[in-house]
Amino acid sequence: EDVTLKSATENNFFVGVAVSEARTNIAAYDQLYTTEFSSITAENDMKMASIFTGIDGSGNIIYDWSKIDALIDYAEDNNLNVHGHTLIWHRSIPEALENFTGTDQEFEDLIEQYITDVFTRYQGRINSWDVVNEAIDDDASIQWRNTLFLQRMGDNYVEKCFAFARAADPNVKLFYNDYNMTFDGTKRGKVLDMVDDLLASDLIDGVGYQMHIDYNFPTKEEIQQATDELVAKDVLVHFAELDVKLNAANDLTDLTEERSQAQRQRVREVVEIFNAIPQNKKYAITVWGLKDDDTWLIPENNGRPEWPLLFDESFERKPAYLGFLEGL
Ligand code: XIL
Repeated sequence: EDVTLKSATENNFFVGVAVSEARTNIAAYDQLYTTEFSSITAENDMKMASIFTGIDGSGNIIYDWSKIDALIDYAEDNNLNVHGHTLIWHRSIPEALENFTGTDQEFEDLIEQYITDVFTRYQGRINSWDVVNEAIDDDASIQWRNTLFLQRMGDNYVEKCFAFARAADPNVKLFYNDYNMTFDGTKRGKVLDMVDDLLASDLIDGVGYQMHIDYNFPTKEEIQQATDELVAKDVLVHFAELDVKLNAANDLTDLTEERSQAQRQRVREVVEIFNAIPQNKKYAITVWGLKDDDTWLIPENNGRPEWPLLFDESFERKPAYLGFLEGL
């Protein structure tokens, strides 16, 4: 019997992949989604702008549930865990909310309604959700990123959103998710302080470190330190959007064997660090896409080519895939 990521991590932690609903209907994707992984995160299909499509004349939210419904059915048919991503994110705001001219209280009521409607509709079917994504500012001197949610709901908007979610369904595991957690100790400190505040009111269950990292940055010691600081909190740990860039210096036009092997080593280190977390705190490692040519780090966004994932363009396992197994 062939060893897969899924079989190698059974009864240990979930191995997730960022998926799209459309790709679940393509045989080669379906095959790997269901045999290699035990969890899915929607890369975009469960974001607010995908679901909340408008506001009608009576002030009610108009929904498009088609993709999220289909993904949850798919997960159930294939025995996959579902991690919801993401209720609140400043880069996925519905146009109707951007342009909303009602009062701040009316805005907040819409957010509460949205969170409540999503949680009610999928009661018992989504294990965990990122409630708020990327709320902390990158500037060390600023606490909260200046977003529409901050402007409309005040600087306790994160706590409000977690409270709405907890009230809507106390059985869903509530996560906070953010990037640069491994090397920006100042930003991480702000996140961990926020986690303490949320824990004091029992409003959070887990934290996602996105883990968009490079083959040579940050150091293994930095990743270990950042993980240790999170493990010290009473929360589940998710390495939520793992990908490993090989070309930050823009010195490659094609993937080389040497760089592929460096990526294998890096993935191995990350998995080793995660696997050493106490069992009751290990939630999942999720990779941010299946194969290299699906990555969000395309030259148009990223300025240069990348090969950051575990499978190549032909759906074949890369050395980085082996690195994952070697880390266990
Ligand atoms: C990205 C998707 O991968 C892209 O397809 C989309 O255009 C923008 O969002 N941090 C997150 C993810 O939390 O939701 C982002 O996903 C990548 C950065």
